[in-house]
Amino acid sequence: MNIREEINKRRTFGIISHPDAGKTTLTEKLLLFGGAIQKAGAVKSSKIKDHARSDWMEIEKQRGISVATSVMGFHYNGIKINLLDTPGHQDFAEDTYRTLTAVDSVIMVIDCVKGVETQTEKLMEVCRMRNTPVLCFINKLDREGRDPFDLLDEIEEKLGIKVRPLSWPISMGKGFKGVYSLFEKSIHLFTPSKITIEAGIQIKDINSEELDKLVGENNARQLRTDVELIEGVYPEFSVQEYLDGKVAPVFFGSAVNNFGVKELLDTFINIAPPPEPRVTTARIVKPEENKFTGFIFKIHANMDPKHRNRIAFLRVCSGKFERGSNYFHVRHHKDLRFSNATAFMAQDRETVDEAWPGDIVGIYDTGNLKIGDTLTTGEEMTYTGIPSFSPEIFKEVINKDAMKTKQLEKGLLQLMEEGVAQMFTYTLGKRKVVGTVGALQFEVIQFRLKQEYNATVEFVGQNIYKACWITSKNPTKLAEFVDSKQRHIAQDKDGKLVFMAESRAWLQMVQENFPEIEFHFTSEF
Ligand code: G4P
Repeated sequence: MNIREEINKRRTFGIISHPDAGKTTLTEKLLLFGGAIQKAGAVKSSKIKDHARSDWMEIEKQRGISVATSVMGFHYNGIKINLLDTPGHQDFAEDTYRTLTAVDSVIMVIDCVKGVETQTEKLMEVCRMRNTPVLCFINKLDREGRDPFDLLDEIEEKLGIKVRPLSWPISMGKGFKGVYSLFEKSIHLFTPSKITIEAGIQIKDINSEELDKLVGENNARQLRTDVELIEGVYPEFSVQEYLDGKVAPVFFGSAVNNFGVKELLDTFINIAPPPEPRVTTARIVKPEENKFTGFIFKIHANMDPKHRNRIAFLRVCSGKFERGSNYFHVRHHKDLRFSNATAFMAQDRETVDEAWPGDIVGIYDTGNLKIGDTLTTGEEMTYTGIPSFSPEIFKEVINKDAMKTKQLEKGLLQLMEEGVAQMFTYTLGKRKVVGTVGALQFEVIQFRLKQEYNATVEFVGQNIYKACWITSKNPTKLAEFVDSKQRHIAQDKDGKLVFMAESRAWLQMVQENFPEIEFHFTSEF
């Protein structure tokens, strides 16, 4: 098979949802279809239940489990599917954001009872930044949910994306009869907890009596009205608009009952994009180029201090990755040999000899790699689009054991490289402030610094609203600004200038007073 054929048969995607909407359940059903697992219950949930909120050790354990399910590769109808797992817990949202930089499309799961929830909104923002194609699965139709039209309106409004239903539910909850495929003009009847898949019943004419017999008179009447409305309100589905990230096709179903999942998967492999060209600092790289390139989007550390190795997750972007070859590490300017790469297949990891664009390779690393690193076959370029986002909680790091300063510095650096949190160093006084999305990370950092580096720290809360990266077309103005706001200026891990704003109102005022300064909420601009 040549490289173009390898590329065309790959679909690399992630499932995003608010916790509890059904991501794990849907993942499991997809794996069942792919023959990657044999029975339900085989996928360990990477989600963290509410009761474990305060117990972060439990969460780390879960994260440990989730290494195995970080990337699930399987085959379905001749297509190689790479499903990238995303942590459900909002404190690890930053992990999810980064994982989304390595996918080519996304399936979004929405609970029909709860509608669009906060976490989904945030994740969708990240998808919008890269125009990632999104396919939407409205789940739990076996429950009394919200009106489907209201749900669609809510998605458009809250998620800022146009929708186009491709299937339509016939009633809901106890009265749920099934879904009508607007595409195939067929009915799929629902039988609770029946896991077998039956082909849809073709309905030539929605006005025929056949429909009444299948779903009852009232349901049939309602479906006819709904379908008329849908065809009147929503423009015809355009695959191109979906690929451009402008329209999200919507499916209804019930993951736990395996209902609507096959239709979703069949449509997905047909319309979801294979690996596409990606942007670097030097040029756009096409996947079919002969020379291998890729980037690191995630690092998972081994918490056992005796085995300080970590797994770096590499997304192949172009060419063929071959185990045992030397590749050029752009940031370090040197060749590295990759003899111990692993591929991810369902829940197993196996040694991989070659990988193609869209594949994810696990690399055992002793500290050479960090998130955002690009590997090439010699070319100087760095993949862009893997930004850091302004954290939400900020705390100053206080070293409690001066004898262990070196260990602390090393530990902090490594944890930041793993992407556990972000660190900002004030230009004045060199104070170090750690910023995170969730409160849990501080406990994780404190524990791991002690456990793995024997360093003791305390954290002191800071009154900071946002860390904004600052630039200006006018270097003199930027220098003046930095000078006048010295106490609030820090540098991020790459030495970029950051303004630490104390409150929203103050930030607004500063923005108004310094119109020539640009304030950015992500590290890439
Ligand atoms: P998550 O990964 O998005 O957090 O959600 P997960 O799949 O774990 O699903 C959350 C809960 O919703 C689970 O119940 C799951 O069984 C249930 N669920 C998933 N799909 C459906 C569906 O189509 N209909 C209904 N009624 N429920 C669904 P749980 O009680 O939290 O866990 P479990 O004990 O059932 O595993």
